[in-house]
Amino acid sequence: MSLFAKLRKILRAALLGNPELSRAFDLPIQAPQCEVSVWLHGTGAPRDVTTCHSVACSVPFTLCISGEGRAPLNRRAALRFHERGGEKRLLGVIELQHEAVIPTGGPELHLYKAVACTNLCLPRLRHWVRSALVARAYSKDLASGRMAVSLLDNGCNEIFFFCPRPVALVSVQQAGRCNIFPMNLMGPVGQGYFVFALNSSKQGGTGSGALVDLALSTIPFEYAEQVRQLGKNHHYHSIDFDQLYFATQPSPKLGIPVPHFALAVRELRVEQTHCLGSHTFFIARILHRHVYQNAPEFHRIHGIYAAYRRKSGVGVPNCPKWQPGTS
Ligand SMILES: Cc1cc2nc3c(=O)[nH]c(=O)nc-3n(C[C@H](O)[C@H](O)[C@H](O)COP(=O)(O)O)c2cc1C
Repeated sequence: MSLFAKLRKILRAALLGNPELSRAFDLPIQAPQCEVSVWLHGTGAPRDVTTCHSVACSVPFTLCISGEGRAPLNRRAALRFHERGGEKRLLGVIELQHEAVIPTGGPELHLYKAVACTNLCLPRLRHWVRSALVARAYSKDLASGRMAVSLLDNGCNEIFFFCPRPVALVSVQQAGRCNIFPMNLMGPVGQGYFVFALNSSKQGGTGSGALVDLALSTIPFEYAEQVRQLGKNHHYHSIDFDQLYFATQPSPKLGIPVPHFALAVRELRVEQTHCLGSHTFFIARILHRHVYQNAPEFHRIHGIYAAYRRKSGVGVPNCPKWQPGTS
């Protein structure tokens, strides 16, 4: 390596930090996670929405939050991510604008589009340098006609993963189509409903033949590597289940093949889909939920929060005892 290349590498590392800061970081956590709490401010009294919000679309960054009461459209609100234990530090804030209300057979779902964000887990200088690089990549992608991720959307996606998110495997079997792929833009929204977001340009969830019924399995951490490898299945409409490296068993109600190592399986029926941009947003009713066993689950956090967590010695505070059947 030339002297110039070496100097460039050293300078880059000093300004940007470890390359791991840009990656997802996997860790085992007993569900439901209780390390970070997420609060909605600006629609009445602040509300803990940790267990009832999810990403509806990554670009433009849009969140779905379930809840009672109808907040006026266009109202500004903010989602604040806090450590739950220790000093309860504020980790990040996503400022939102209320865009739409979606009625369902269960909860009323509110869509909020991001308008600003503040990342409190990165030193300011490092944040500026990273922002400059993201802005440069954005203009290059715009110029070349590729899908461009703005500084705002990128920042919000980072902060969203300051809260540990479980990774599940989705099994699909309908009309001659079989697939199984990992997903983490998802979550329960209460009253027996569940939402998730799938990339609109990939075949896995959104290609021809709308998704109707599916089974969603939560994963013990020791299978994280195998599950990550199934990410490529998002590119395919259908795959050959006989080629899977693990055994499957039929899900209890719909008989959809789920991995033998599933900790719990939710069987879902999709009731609504909304194409919101880079992602299609799915609203599904939970038909049935079965818990097989209890073990630390495969979760993901953003590399920036992983580094912050390591440095500040954040641990997982005592979680409430696990009880079979809790959603
Ligand atoms: C652990 C994991 C979770 C994922 N979750 C989602 C998701 O919730 N929604 C989605 O549209 N894609 C999801 N993906 C798919 C990835 O964004 C990506 O499209 C896929 O891994 C293919 O990567 P490639 O385009 O680099 O080949 C996930 C992938 C992995 C490995």
